[in-house]
Amino acid sequence: MNYKMLLGLALGLGMMGATAAQAQDAKAGESFFKRACAACHTVEAGKNRVGPSLAGVVGRKAGSVDGFAYSPALKGSGLEWNDENLDKYIADPKGTVPGNKMAYAGAKNEADRKNLIAYLNSVK
Ligand code: HEC
Repeated sequence: MNYKMLLGLALGLGMMGATAAQAQDAKAGESFFKRACAACHTVEAGKNRVGPSLAGVVGRKAGSVDGFAYSPALKGSGLEWNDENLDKYIADPKGTVPGNKMAYAGAKNEADRKNLIAYLNSVK
């Protein structure tokens, strides 16, 4: 085996590792979601509970699910739900969007939030 083949093999293995790690994150994120969020949120489109459906949340504007009565604070926040804004909001809902009505204290553990966001990216 020459070094180019070795390099190719190493790159290939590296990428497989990354995909496996992401799948792992999303799986852990799903169980965190069930514990911390599912009382108020579903990931089914059009199915709102106390909170709006989070199906396809990544990439949409805050406060944009039809038929959900958002607080003026969240609706007027101007946020778009990308990984970074989700991370801030989930860590500290009240501090990130003052006056919003999500009654959740915040997920303080960064690994939990990372897994959760990987999961939210997987629910379309
Ligand atoms: C006690 C109920 C409750 C819990 C628990 C809860 N939420 Fe919420 N969530 C809400 C409510 C209510 C809103 C709407 C807030 C508003 O309009 O001000 C909301 C809004 C959101 C939004 C904004 C959605 C949009 O369409 O703009 C996201 C994202 C979100 N929650 C994620 C989460 C995640 C992730 C968890 C778990 C870590 C969680 N929430 C836990 C009630 C809850």
